[in-house]
Formats: sequence, C-alpha cells, structure tokens
Amino acid sequence: MIRVVFVCLGNICRSPMADGVMQDLVNQAGLSDKIEVDSAGTGGWHVGDSAHHGTRKILKKHNIPYDGRARQFRRDDISRFDYVLAMDKSNLHNIHRLIGESKPENTVITLFLHYANQVGITDIEEVPDPYYTGDFDHVYKLVESGCIALLAHIRDTHKL
Ligand code: 4NP
Repeated sequence: MIRVVFVCLGNICRSPMADGVMQDLVNQAGLSDKIEVDSAGTGGWHVGDSAHHGTRKILKKHNIPYDGRARQFRRDDISRFDYVLAMDKSNLHNIHRLIGESKPENTVITLFLHYANQVGITDIEEVPDPYYTGDFDHVYKLVESGCIALLAHIRDTHKL
C-alpha cells in the first residue's frame, strides 16, 4: 500500500480538497486497494470540523464526495506515510520543525505541487490559502493539476 497525506494549515480548505480529488482519481483508476489517501493540518484550531463550505461546494460541483473531519498532523504520521505533501512552504517548514531528525529514509516530504512543476503543468509552487483569498476555483484547478501529476508519478515510480 502506498500512503499519501496532504498537509495544510487548518485541514479544512486545501488539504481536504486534495484528499477528495486524489481519492476520486485513485478510485477511477481502480487503485483504491493500492493507494491510500489522507489529509491533516499543522494547526489544531479546526480539529473535528467538517471541511470549509467553499471546499465542500466545489467538490460537490465536481461530483466528488467528501465527509472527512479535520485532524492535526502528528509527529508519528511521518512513519505512517510514504508521501507527505505540504500545500505551501510554511506548512513544509512546520512539518520539518515538528519531526526534527526523525524522517524515515523512504518517506518523501515535499511540496504538493512539486510533481506538477516537474512535468510543467504549472509553475506555481504553492497552493494559495482560500481561507484568506476566497478563490476556491483557482485552488481547485491547482489541486486537480497537482493530483493528476502526483498520481502519474506514483504509478510510474511504483509500477501501478
Ligand atoms: P487551510 O486554510 O490551511 O487550507 O485549511 C486555513 C483554514 C483555517 C485557518 C487557516 C487556514 N485558520 O487560521 O483558522
């Protein structure tokens, strides 16, 4: 099983969106028994909350179900996942600060858009926070590009 976790700040806007979109792509590819998807926030303010209505609305518009509840990223998550993907550089910094030297050798910790950047679908490196910008449409497009590129990378790397 390949385990992926998307990490943002609150786990109510960006990472749940990526969680829903990636799960949908994985299901469509018939790979739900090979790839597991999760999300978390580096902050704990929204633990237990459902996703932001902007995220729920745009997922619904694309017929993507999502009923996850916010949780906080924990130190031991680092050994439970193969890919730990941060939505922006600040989240990435927070993850590194939390785990210190404890990164397992095979865990990849990088920016979510790294794979989309690598194949040139977008040159935007960080997913802007719609909690502040209100632009859930722009974020959806980035999340979709990021997930498509990520799935292609995982399939290629792990021969799925
Ligand atoms: P997210 O957005 O990190 O994409 O879930 C945020 C949600 C809530 C807060 C910040 C960012 N907040 O400060 O409560």
